[in-house]
Amino acid sequence: MIEVKDLEKSFDGRMVLKGISIVFEAGKTNLIIGQSGSGKTVLVKNLVGLMRPTSGQILYDGRDLPKMSSSDVKQLRQEMGMIFQGSALFDSMTVSENVNFPLMMFSGLSKSEQAKRTQFCLERVNLSDAGHLYPSEISGGMMKRAAIARAISLNPKYLFCDEPNSGLDPQTSLVIDELIHDITKEYNITTIINTHDMNSVMNIGEKINFIKEGNLEWQGTSDDVMSSTNEDFNDFVFASDLFKKVKAAENTGIKLT
Ligand SMILES: Nc1ncnc2c1ncn2[C@@H]1O[C@H](COP(=O)(O)OP(=O)(O)O)[C@@H](O)[C@H]1O
Ligand SMILES: [Mg+2]
Repeated sequence: MIEVKDLEKSFDGRMVLKGISIVFEAGKTNLIIGQSGSGKTVLVKNLVGLMRPTSGQILYDGRDLPKMSSSDVKQLRQEMGMIFQGSALFDSMTVSENVNFPLMMFSGLSKSEQAKRTQFCLERVNLSDAGHLYPSEISGGMMKRAAIARAISLNPKYLFCDEPNSGLDPQTSLVIDELIHDITKEYNITTIINTHDMNSVMNIGEKINFIKEGNLEWQGTSDDVMSSTNEDFNDFVFASDLFKKVKAAENTGIKLT
């Protein structure tokens, strides 16, 4: 569990996060949604310690990250997996070498144990046949899966995904969403996903946090989306025509088939 309390972040006196409090639960896909520029990436960067908050607490199972020494932050980082926008794979390494990299750096496992763990992670994301390929030789969806395999190699307690579906077609996005969802359940990970993809919101929105201009404006599950009465949230959700139609149909009691 990660608990954020009254988190504020300013750049040169301009407040981008305006006092955010959220509990991110273990074993759940916790979504952060909102328009581009609303503060999602800044929030996640604060969470993982890439940025320092101006004020507020970030409690990792009780441990307050902004108060930790840099060596304690380093330690904590090893409990985090990250999948950031793009896949951020190393182009000069094969898929296997990419997945093995965190193990080599941080695990203390022997070479053969590393190889076993790498193979396990590749199998988990259905890439066991692609280990020898370079990122330039595989599709966007495979790159994402490789990034997921690398992110789970150290058995993380916390998993951060910033726009994991950017650049993917809807079908591949669904596969990636489901993979992240299943891994979250299997290993009881506290997973935090930034997205503005409404398909993800409806498919894996177990706990949705809607941010607008640095404020937390709405919270709920995918089941709550259609009955929301928050205007800003509805504007965001129903910006797409399809959702407008569904909402209008719900209001008139018509069932769409
Ligand atoms: N390092 C930075 N310095 C100054 N302003 C920043 C910095 N990073 C982000 N911002 C600003 O913070 C706001 C939120 O950005 P961001 O979190 O990236 O939005 P998004 O919700 O699209 O991920 C934007 O107005 C952006 O310009
Ligand atoms: Mg962003």
